[in-house]
Amino acid sequence: MPTEGATTATQPGAGASAPAPAPVTVAPAADAGLTPATAAIVLDGVGYAPPKHPPILSGIHWTVPTGRFHVLLGRSGCGKTTLLKLAAGLLVPSQGRVRVEGRALQGPAEGLGFVFQAPTLLDWLTALDNVLLPLSLRGDRDRGRDRALQLLDALGLGGLAGRYPRQLSGGQQARVAVARALVAAPRVLLLDEPFAALDALTREALQEDLAALCARDGISALLVTHDIAESVFLADRVALMSAGCIVEQVAVELPRPRPPGIRYDAAFNEHCRVLRAALDRTGSAR
Ligand SMILES: Nc1ncnc2c1ncn2[C@@H]1O[C@H](COP(=O)(O)OP(=O)(O)OP(=O)(O)O)[C@@H](O)[C@H]1O
Ligand SMILES: [Mg+2]
Repeated sequence: MPTEGATTATQPGAGASAPAPAPVTVAPAADAGLTPATAAIVLDGVGYAPPKHPPILSGIHWTVPTGRFHVLLGRSGCGKTTLLKLAAGLLVPSQGRVRVEGRALQGPAEGLGFVFQAPTLLDWLTALDNVLLPLSLRGDRDRGRDRALQLLDALGLGGLAGRYPRQLSGGQQARVAVARALVAAPRVLLLDEPFAALDALTREALQEDLAALCARDGISALLVTHDIAESVFLADRVALMSAGCIVEQVAVELPRPRPPGIRYDAAFNEHCRVLRAALDRTGSAR
């Protein structure tokens, strides 16, 4: 397996009026000053091997600062979902430690929302009741109703709260799943390719809504994707995974908030080019 590689970033201070940023290699000290207490998620030397299987992940060092949006990008089978499950406390690392908001994980993390690749909505509940499910399970349904309706509204589903999943499009179901992950006001949000099955326009609209909600509520986010443009639009930093390791990191120094049209800017496309070249260097899937 490759070892953790150098950190790649855009040139500091590259602004909208500057020429397209050229990638430069910088020291991993870019994370200097971050301590486990000031970071939302810290993976410290994490490795994972299922029982009687070779390791899926090894030597993962990865920090998501509080309030930042980080993306894990990598080919199919490189270990992204496994890493996300470790960050959520759904798997226990074979090596190293996972900390969420300063606490070492010893089971599913609290204060954390998870969006799965498939919406996994319950067919017999309305959109509103699906969103409220995490609160209903702990007897808090009534207290969360206003927030659930507000989230549905913010995600463009204001008039559809009473519909059942079979009466919603795939994109609308994905929005319900995002609202459900946010209803308990998590401070940390983990997302596993939540928009992978959607058409490009729907996906872009959801990216915009997700970025706005995370910024509004100061949420720390870690999103897994195969999609380079999605990575650049959403991320403050992208970690590139290959064969169970983080092999490169790219800082996305585009201004926020990012308007939809930023996808056509030279700086945006330069970030896409850098990530594509890095992905090509990782070769074929394991
Ligand atoms: N419980 C398990 N036992 C054995 N192997 C596993 C287990 N879970 C995952 N794997 C293997 O570990 C590797 C990484 O799986 P993982 O689901 O993390 O990949 P991924 O990067 O999320 O892929 P994709 O992009 O296709 O979702 C794969 O080769 C997979 O077959
Ligand atoms: Mg996966």
